[in-house]
Amino acid sequence: MSDFAAWTQACQARMESVLAAWLPPAHIAPQRLHEAMRYAVLGGGKRVRPLLAFAAGEVAGADPERVQHAAAAVELIHAYSLVHDDMPAMDDDALRRGKPTVHVEFDEATALLVGDALQSLAFDILASQPLAADAATQLNMVQVLAQAAGSRGMAGGQAIDLASVGKPLDLTELEFMHIHKTGALIRASVLLGAQCGTVTDATTAALDHYAKCIGLAFQVVDDVLDAEAPTATLGKTAGKDAANNKPTYVSLLGVARARELAQELRADAHAALDKLGAPAARLRQLADFVVERTF
Ligand code: IPE
Ligand code: IPE
Ligand code: MG
Ligand code: MG
Ligand code: MG
Repeated sequence: MSDFAAWTQACQARMESVLAAWLPPAHIAPQRLHEAMRYAVLGGGKRVRPLLAFAAGEVAGADPERVQHAAAAVELIHAYSLVHDDMPAMDDDALRRGKPTVHVEFDEATALLVGDALQSLAFDILASQPLAADAATQLNMVQVLAQAAGSRGMAGGQAIDLASVGKPLDLTELEFMHIHKTGALIRASVLLGAQCGTVTDATTAALDHYAKCIGLAFQVVDDVLDAEAPTATLGKTAGKDAANNKPTYVSLLGVARARELAQELRADAHAALDKLGAPAARLRQLADFVVERTF
C-alpha cells in the first residue's frame, strides 16, 4: 500500500470513530431519527473534506485532535447536503454510498429532519470544542462554515442547480454554480483545518487559492464520473445528470475537455502550494486524488 493510501485509510478510520461518537446513539429517543442520522453519515463516503482538513492542518502545524472535530463538522454538513440532494424534490436518487438513500430506507420527512439535525450538530461541535488558539479565530470558524453552507455557499449552489434544469448554462454560469454547490464546503474544509493551527496571511491566501481550484475540479470530475463510471463503482446511480437534464461540464464541454479542465485546475492547485514546501505534501497528493479518482 502506498504511503498516501495508508494515510488516507488512517484518517478515514479516525473520522469514522469521531463521527460515531458525535452522533447520538440509535437507542436514544427519537430512535428513528437518530438511526437515520447514523445511517446517513457512517459506513461510507470518501471523507475527502476531512482529508483536506487534516492536510491543511499539517501545513498549519495543527493538533489532529483538534482538526478531527472541525473535519467532523464539515463532513456532517456534507452528509446533510447529500441526504437532501437525493430527495424526490431535488435529484430524486435511490442509491447513495452503495445503499438506499435515506428517504428510501426511512421516509421523506425523516430525511428532511436528518438534514436539519446534522446541520445543527455540526455547529454544536464547532461551538463546543476548543479548536483554535483564541476565541476570535474560533468564532470566525463558525462563520466560515455557516457561510459555506448557506445561501451564498452550498445551499445557494443547489438552488441554482435546480433552477438550471433544462437550461444550457454558459461556462461562467456553470462555474458559478459548481463553485457554490461543491466548492464552498471544500474551501471551508481547507480553511478550517488551517485555523486549528497557525498560518500567516500569505499561507491562508495560498490555501484559499488551492481550495478554490480543487473545489471546482471536484465537481467537474463528479460530472465526468456521472457520465462515464458504472453505478457499481460510484455507489450512486450513474447517468443521472443526463437523465435529469442537468447542465454539467460534460453537457457543455464534453468528457474530453472536462477532463482536460480538471487537469488544468490540478496544475493551478499545485502552483498555489509552491511556496509551502514539504508540509503541503498531503494537499498535493489530495489534488491528484481529486482529479484521478474513479468514484
Ligand atoms: C458527492 O460528494 C457530492 C458532490 C458534492 C459532488 P462526494 O463524492 O465527496 O461523496 P462521498 O462523501 O464520497 O459519498
Ligand atoms: C451535489 O451535486 C452537490 C451537493 C450535494 C451539495 P450532485 O447532485 O452532482 O451530487 P451527486 O452526484 O448526487 O453526488
Ligand atoms: Mg444535485
Ligand atoms: Mg445529486
Ligand atoms: Mg453529481
